[in-house]
Amino acid sequence: MKPHRILSSLAMLILASAFQHSGPSALSAAPAAADPESPGARAERIAWFRDAKYGLFIHWGLYAIPAGEWKGRRVPGIGEWIMQHAQIPDAEYSRLASQFFPEKFDAGAYAQLALDAGMKYVVITAKHHDGFALFKSAVSDYNVVDATPFKRDIVKELADACARRGLRFGVYYSQAQDWHEPNGAGNTWDFGPDDKKDFDKYLREKAEPQVRELLSNYGPVCLVWFDTPRMMDTGGRAGRFTGIVRALQPACLIDGRLGAGGDYVSTDDNAIPGAISDTPWETPATLNHTWGYRKDDNDWKRPGEIIFKLVDIVSKGGNYLLNIGPKADGEIPAPSVESLRTVGAWLKVNGEAVHGAARTPFGEELGGYIEGRKDSGGGRVWGELSAWRCTARPGRLYFTVFSDWPRNGFDLPAFKNKIKTAWCLDDPDRTPIEITTGKDGRRTIKVPRPARNAMANVLVVEYEGDGIEK
Ligand code: GLC
Repeated sequence: MKPHRILSSLAMLILASAFQHSGPSALSAAPAAADPESPGARAERIAWFRDAKYGLFIHWGLYAIPAGEWKGRRVPGIGEWIMQHAQIPDAEYSRLASQFFPEKFDAGAYAQLALDAGMKYVVITAKHHDGFALFKSAVSDYNVVDATPFKRDIVKELADACARRGLRFGVYYSQAQDWHEPNGAGNTWDFGPDDKKDFDKYLREKAEPQVRELLSNYGPVCLVWFDTPRMMDTGGRAGRFTGIVRALQPACLIDGRLGAGGDYVSTDDNAIPGAISDTPWETPATLNHTWGYRKDDNDWKRPGEIIFKLVDIVSKGGNYLLNIGPKADGEIPAPSVESLRTVGAWLKVNGEAVHGAARTPFGEELGGYIEGRKDSGGGRVWGELSAWRCTARPGRLYFTVFSDWPRNGFDLPAFKNKIKTAWCLDDPDRTPIEITTGKDGRRTIKVPRPARNAMANVLVVEYEGDGIEK
């Protein structure tokens, strides 16, 4: 099994248990206590994340130079894994550092893109599996300042640019895999099997001190995005990272891939669960099929698709962390910029249905298990419905309608509350829309035709009462 496949199964397991045990919202927990793992402290830490909903992931490193091709040969798979997929010796791969000179890199433009896209946080690969750090490090000179002609601390510039724009800033850090280090996990072609390595030496001498550096030198870090938790369950290894994060920045979140003790669930890559969960969660996702830039991957998600996924996720209580993979010269591929900005323009008008919005009080719109159908492993098969999604705020429901703008009006799901009024979220005049009640009691919103927006339209319904009564 490929290493990231193993991770995938692990992530799904963690996810499955989180979704089974979804209880009441963590936000309703008691006030913060001194113990950082108490329900109150956890709820307080996660509050901003629950409201943020949408973040920018940035995968950038030396792998952007080969961009999916090594010595004239196309190397299939995700771009940032090229070193391992082509089994490139570290002595050769690490020479890429001398070519790293991203003259088009502009931290302000990156942060501005996130802002224009309607995103609330930015997470960059401070160190990915190849072991190369995008920040100045005192414990390893395999970093952008010491090993490249560029000599600028990219993490620092981006952290500052985000702070200036009021965006939260987080770092991805590959804690277990480090293909540059003889004792790091993953590089078996240079350094032999992982179980013969002095893994704790690598953790103590590089990974732990680098996480300390990231949490000491770059201002407030909103989260550390650990990944591929190999060999983390022995000797309190995961716990050592948790200890570092809690001690240096108590407000900083830990994602779901440290191996233990995360603040939220990270789903499998690009995986959006079918059901609602009140346990905080996030889907990390690509805009095409790779995280790190590949010159041959131009299969970009369309803005309408991104809007659907975002609202779908929010309606189930989660966050969407959407990735860009800058080129070696620092330019962000134009189609991804365009898509993100188009979605951002939609959010500028319709963001009330997303940022800070709660999950759907219904659920039937999501789909369900298809009766009588089993997959090849004998498991139940989920049938997704995709016509509309619902998100909520006190006294208001937001129905985002995606396809087939209803000819005869939008049929509301059943609930007992009296409706005060309804309007289209993108209508600044809030012109009330007529609502009729059929003989069976079903209420229908007489939507304006044609649809106002070709991708997605939000209907706001204001109701009486403190919560939806069914
Ligand atoms: C996978 C890959 C990694 C990528 C990550 C993002 O786990 O190992 O390359 O950074 O997913 O979710």
